[in-house]
Amino acid sequence: RAAGQSVADLTGKHVLISAGGTREHLDPVRYLGNSSSGKQGYALARIAAARGAKVTLVAANSELPDPAGVQVVPVTSTRDLYDEITGRAADADAIVMAAAPADFRPADVAEHKIKKTADGSVPAVSLVQNPDILQTISHDRARPGQVIVGFAAETGDAQHSVLDLGRAKLERKGCDLLVVNDVSGGKVFGSDLNEAVILDRTGTALPVPSTSKDALAGIIWNLVSTHWP
Ligand code: CTP
Ligand code: CA
Repeated sequence: RAAGQSVADLTGKHVLISAGGTREHLDPVRYLGNSSSGKQGYALARIAAARGAKVTLVAANSELPDPAGVQVVPVTSTRDLYDEITGRAADADAIVMAAAPADFRPADVAEHKIKKTADGSVPAVSLVQNPDILQTISHDRARPGQVIVGFAAETGDAQHSVLDLGRAKLERKGCDLLVVNDVSGGKVFGSDLNEAVILDRTGTALPVPSTSKDALAGIIWNLVSTHWP
């Protein structure tokens, strides 16, 4: 069915969605961040709510307005996002990780603003790895029958196609569906359009030609519905 039809087919389901890009603070005013707009996650929340689901949206640093009828939980860092998603996972019939968590964070956060020094010496930033939220919830499976969806933005490289990398990532993460975006040449980021291939664990690859983020959200919910027992 097409997105935008007002069929309440997700009534009785609780869906948990993450959106936006996390920030990892270096000091009180500076952070490492990324340019995820949050648009795809917000579209997923809006469409699920329109189709009757109870929706919780854990939103990392997005400027977008709260979608009507959606519980929005604001977070800053990947560890905040980890806490909110893992803490809410047992209540969710589906979890969609549309957020772009930072893979690394500064090992230390300065209590006060970092200042330049008179001798011109430059501070070194050492990083530590953040927890992998998608992998954790996929391996823990906090609720039977829960469907877990990840996203992957890939460019491919000399040895691997975008799809090869997507298949390997689906396997590594242990989620049920992986929405793979080809971002070579600066596609997708911040755009209202999205082109993707959706992989599942049986090896099926569903290509979704360039379409609106709302329409892609509708297709994702259709697929999630087919995975519910
Ligand atoms: N993800 C997550 N926790 C992280 C990093 C990523 O839950 N710490 C989720 C993202 O929300 C996305 C999926 O995992 O749904 C894939 O993110 P991606 O950055 O492509 O995966 P990584 O394992 O970090 O791989 P890469 O080295 O390619 O960045
Ligand atoms: Ca990553």
